[in-house]
Amino acid sequence: MTSDEIREKYLKFFEGKGHARITPAPLVLESDPTTLFTSAGMQPLVPYLKGEPHPKGRRLVDSQPSFRTVDIDEVGDNRHLTYFEMLGNWGLGDYFKKEQLEWCLEFFTKELGFSKDKLWVSVFEGLPAQAGTKEVPKDTESAERWKQLGIPLERIHFYGVDKNWWSRSGPPDKMPPGEIGGPDSEIFFDFGTPHDPKYGEKCHPNCECGRFIEIGNSVFIQYEKKEDGNLVELPQKNVDYGGGLERITAAVSGTPDIFLSDLFESTIRKVEEESKGSYGNNSEKDRSFRIIADHLRASSAVMSEGIEPSNKLQGYVVRRLIRRAVFHLSLLGVKDLSASISRISKALWPKISGAMVQESERFEKALSKGTAILTRRLETSGVIDGKFAFDLYQSGGFPLELSLEILKEKGKEFSEKEIRTFEKEFESHRQKSRTASVGMFKGGLADSSKEVTKLHTVTHLLHAALRKVLGEHVSQKGSNITAERLRFDFSHSQKLTEEETKKVEDLVNEQIKKDLKVEFEEKTLDEAVKEGALHFFGERYGDRVKVYTIKDPSAGPGPPFSREVCGGPHVSHTGELGRVRILKQEKLGSGVVRIYASTS
Ligand code: ALA
Repeated sequence: MTSDEIREKYLKFFEGKGHARITPAPLVLESDPTTLFTSAGMQPLVPYLKGEPHPKGRRLVDSQPSFRTVDIDEVGDNRHLTYFEMLGNWGLGDYFKKEQLEWCLEFFTKELGFSKDKLWVSVFEGLPAQAGTKEVPKDTESAERWKQLGIPLERIHFYGVDKNWWSRSGPPDKMPPGEIGGPDSEIFFDFGTPHDPKYGEKCHPNCECGRFIEIGNSVFIQYEKKEDGNLVELPQKNVDYGGGLERITAAVSGTPDIFLSDLFESTIRKVEEESKGSYGNNSEKDRSFRIIADHLRASSAVMSEGIEPSNKLQGYVVRRLIRRAVFHLSLLGVKDLSASISRISKALWPKISGAMVQESERFEKALSKGTAILTRRLETSGVIDGKFAFDLYQSGGFPLELSLEILKEKGKEFSEKEIRTFEKEFESHRQKSRTASVGMFKGGLADSSKEVTKLHTVTHLLHAALRKVLGEHVSQKGSNITAERLRFDFSHSQKLTEEETKKVEDLVNEQIKKDLKVEFEEKTLDEAVKEGALHFFGERYGDRVKVYTIKDPSAGPGPPFSREVCGGPHVSHTGELGRVRILKQEKLGSGVVRIYASTS
């Protein structure tokens, strides 16, 4: 069975159970300033999980391309990926544990033909009451249901919040206010390989020895974290199921290595051709093959949505992926790296090949510069110490593995002590950059809470007010929101005068005072444009878009105050916003003005 067939079987199976197939969201959501990438199928569905009615009903199914930067360092084993496809089904305040676990098992056994005795499951063991938060009980209902469905007790394992709780930020104490989540129940495929005691005395579904692979997770999203730290029940109980297509495909073919599945076949084959090596020999080289295969596939997916390698946000992630892939190509013995990347990318991803090759050339330059510095140092002083290798890494992106290779060629070795020095420097640097990037992700997520949502709605009001005061030539060129302020770039030739500023503020604040409803509808982009919805030129939208409207019902017929294509989220009434003030403006040149605003 190919991955395409598995995907289609899944979608059809859940359509047969009354689910509507929805269009997956893009990987990069520019209208969502709170996150870099779509990282789970539920991400675009948060408002509906919180209770907004979804236009396609209460049962949804899709296959969502997802990207998880946090997994970048895990790639290299036989199962971790940065970019993957997540099969997902949702019950929005509709069916719950009883149906979900039954259908999940039915899909794996009847549709994919897994023997039931190869399936193990995990269930939430409960969370005791904590300061201010009531206990979350042990999920005996799911355990009981699995038993009824024929999974014997010894294959039902209980775990705590670190394994059987799901939210985008992890366990309850990591969830920012406004985030939703709940206990979950995972299903694992047993490859039956012998346990390796290196990973602990006893084997169990979450053991890292490689015997088990998780192929699906049924999350029971029923809680929202509040500002005061409490978990409270959502108005509805939801099912959020996600299963990685790559892993499911591997389990179907009975191999624990996802890189042997058809999804990676052409990439692995190309890398074999280029390196004149072969994949699957359990050698150190396999790791490089996997990193190359994952990183090139992931970067091509992000780049095909219009992102180029750069030093910022998504572009930076793409840069890191390509450089790491190119470096591992060099570890496989490829000499002419960019020519090799060119052949691979032209064959597999012709549209983005040019940009990928350019980035590879930039990295190759950095590599050869670094090699020259290192060789010179070696010739003059005869030694390379850990600090020197680290500085080279830090300033020129020159990897330690390469320093070690060069030393080896010259018949020298790094002492253990020098490697430790490097690692110490590296760890402290990594901690710092991790904190920075975690800060960005977490900051982003925390921001998705109330404040950012509010400022997001303010942005719509501001956009509309600017057009009314300054003229219809005003259009959005960019925006960025933090919990403290919004930044909005728009086309206009000069900064606003004091009078114009006041007019814009007054107009926005009037709409807030009127406590207007913020409403949305889903439609095609064409329909949205026809009815005059503003859309951010250059934005990539899915097939169907959401159109947010803010209208004063007492103003009679005619166009609403604001109507924009946007992914949300927004507040439900303008009365929630507080008073808006423009804090500062800048002229960015070439007819673009930037303003900063906040609410009080
Ligand atoms: N939202 C769950 C996950 O991403 C299904 O694993």
